[in-house]
Amino acid sequence: MLLAMLLLLLPPPPPLPAPRSAHGHPLYLRLPPSALQALSAQGTKALQAAQRSARWAVNLVAMEIQHRLRTCQGCANHTRPCAGPGRPRPQAPLLQDAPEPGPCGERRPGTVNVTQAHGRIVGGSMAPSGTWPWLVRLQLSGQPLCGGVLVAASWVLTAAHCFAGAPNELLWTVTLAEGPRGKQSEELPVNRILPHPKFDPRTFHYDLALVQLWTPVSPAGAARPVCLPQAPREPPAGTACSIAGWGALFEDGPEAEAVREARVPLLSSDTCRRALGPGLRPSTMLCAGYLAGGIDSCQGDSGGPLTCSEPDPRPREVLYGVTSWGDGCGEPGKPGVYTRVAVFKDWLQEQMSAAPSSREPSCRELLAWEPPEEPLADATPPCAFYAHLCPGPKDACAPLAYQQCLQRRRRCEMRSLAHTLLELLRGAQELFGPLPGMRRLARALVRPAPSLREPPRHPVREQRLQPGRTAAGAGFQKPRPERRGDARGCPGLEPLQRKLAALQDTHAWILRVPPDHLAMGFQEVLADLGSKTVTGLFRAWVRAGFRDQSVVFGGLVGLEPATLARSLPRLLVQALQAFRLSAQAETQPQGAQMAVRRGRGVGGQGHYPPGPQVPPARQP
Ligand code: ARG
Repeated sequence: MLLAMLLLLLPPPPPLPAPRSAHGHPLYLRLPPSALQALSAQGTKALQAAQRSARWAVNLVAMEIQHRLRTCQGCANHTRPCAGPGRPRPQAPLLQDAPEPGPCGERRPGTVNVTQAHGRIVGGSMAPSGTWPWLVRLQLSGQPLCGGVLVAASWVLTAAHCFAGAPNELLWTVTLAEGPRGKQSEELPVNRILPHPKFDPRTFHYDLALVQLWTPVSPAGAARPVCLPQAPREPPAGTACSIAGWGALFEDGPEAEAVREARVPLLSSDTCRRALGPGLRPSTMLCAGYLAGGIDSCQGDSGGPLTCSEPDPRPREVLYGVTSWGDGCGEPGKPGVYTRVAVFKDWLQEQMSAAPSSREPSCRELLAWEPPEEPLADATPPCAFYAHLCPGPKDACAPLAYQQCLQRRRRCEMRSLAHTLLELLRGAQELFGPLPGMRRLARALVRPAPSLREPPRHPVREQRLQPGRTAAGAGFQKPRPERRGDARGCPGLEPLQRKLAALQDTHAWILRVPPDHLAMGFQEVLADLGSKTVTGLFRAWVRAGFRDQSVVFGGLVGLEPATLARSLPRLLVQALQAFRLSAQAETQPQGAQMAVRRGRGVGGQGHYPPGPQVPPARQP
């Protein structure tokens, strides 16, 4: 339906070529190259979406395996009671993935002294690479909006106001400042956004949010988590700490191309209050900077780190603040404001250690879930959360939990469809130039809340969406190798490992393709003009190519822009299915049910739909 709306917005294709007769048989019409091109562009998007969802499915089970292994390790060490797969998991605090990967707060050797003591974010000097291995960038639909700080392998700490008006986790991605050596860092999908429940968008009180990554950051890369304060105590006023980010170089100025950094002293609560008035709430906010002005964080730096070095027990950087707001940037008498991290120590621990089943499943988790035909007798992830809420006996609760899970999954599908539509609209705009109505629709789908546009009671800079900035393409990620733990003595591990292997198998056809090779080409669509259905569609032979595969299948196409739009989603699904079957047929020949050929035109040996001889396609 939404896809149909999209194509309705597209300009009408050039007139179709005159129909031809085929040896006395009905008339056939070949779709013109421009229509094939438009179909191919949408086909490529469909392949990309298929790869994304295959990754989600595989990663979800891989994460579940990791969780089960950790649970088993903890239970073997007697740090908590053992739980079987069907029994509710303990909700006891177990720090799931902190502090991983590797030790926290460590910079790459050799970078520490390079940092210029008077570098500025406002006015700016570039940070040498390796200086901020915990710094990340948060993107909304590909547009960089905020900074963030890696605090554990799967957790990023940032400012809650970054998500005001855009809480849909499916739209957000995270890019690490430090990619693999010499390579661009990949964009990581977000699984869950947890703004502090007391965040007030008018005052920026409690301006803190945790973001859970879909997959943990690889310990093999250069990214490292920062250390979190171990006590509510903070370094004294006057301590020189560091800020970093890609934010604006000066007030209302352009954002930095590379990471910038500055040294700023912490100021006392009294000084902050005097400088910034009642807008400064010392219980959750601290301020840092120079009353003389000139060195400060700025728009786009929000969510980024304010860290202070601590010498003991070893030199390390500890996160005491998260960039939140300011009155202008670098103005005299107006230091920058940062959310206090030390006072949130318990909240952070609690959130990062919560068992997966203690939280409602995220949309990403539900979209990666393949619901079984029938509810299982025992509620399994991701539905276990709903079963825990159910007061009745286990066998009565499991079907209820399953229904609730399905319902929420449907809502998530709608959200994801809206997201896909937006991406398609962007793609269509790239292909066909600006489309009427596109701007309004895009704005309606991703609209920052008024709170970000209207200053709250104290002056907070507006966040700027940066049109024209696109996200770096996601790098090809090999399906994670099955992590083999000792399945004996770890209940529930073996079925999960089997499930992972099966998923890797089913999705191998798309997972093994590097993202920049994902291109579908509709090579030929031949419509039988004598076969118009009541809905205005025509029976057609379709030939499409993907890598070195060429598939032929029968479908229904419309020949007008509106009817072609209507027939598109089903054609895309059929094409994907044909490619999957064709790839599987290569490994297990008898599995193939679709007609598959290599480099041949439509027609010939009576493939689906069986029937008339059609004229052979011209080969290039
Ligand atoms: N709120 C801004 C953002 O969203 C951060 C402003 C920091 N300003 C300052 N003067 N320190 O990026």
